[in-house]
Amino acid sequence: MADWHSTLLESELTLTGIHPTQAGKTPVILMRVKDEVVAFRDACPHEGYPLSRVGERDGDVLICTKHLWEFDGCSGRHVSRLERPDCNLVRFPVRVQTGRIEVDTDVNAPEVRRPVGVAI
Ligand code: FES
Repeated sequence: MADWHSTLLESELTLTGIHPTQAGKTPVILMRVKDEVVAFRDACPHEGYPLSRVGERDGDVLICTKHLWEFDGCSGRHVSRLERPDCNLVRFPVRVQTGRIEVDTDVNAPEVRRPVGVAI
C-alpha cells in the first residue's frame, strides 16, 4: 500500500546536488538526474552511512566516499568495478504535485518513474 509523504519543493533541487529530507520517518535523499527527480534511502547499503553526508556526485553517478562504492544516480544500481549485485540503493517512487515532491516509502510498491514536473 502506497505511503506518500510530502517533502521538498521541486524548485529547491539543484542540478548536481544531493538533497537530504524526511519522507515521514524515513531519511531520504533527493536528486535531479536526467530530467527526473529520484529518491533514495539516505543510507549506503554497505555500512549504512548517510549519503547526505558522505555522498558525492560525479555527474549521474553517486559515490559513497567511505569506501568509494558507486551507484547509478537514476536506478540506484551498484556500478563499482567489483560487482555486488545485491548492494543497490533503496529507491522510492516519486511524484510531483503542484511543485511539491512526494515520496512513497512503501518499498513494496511498484516503481513509479515520471518526468520532473508532471503532476499526477
Ligand atoms: S559505507 Fe558506503 S561504501 Fe562503505
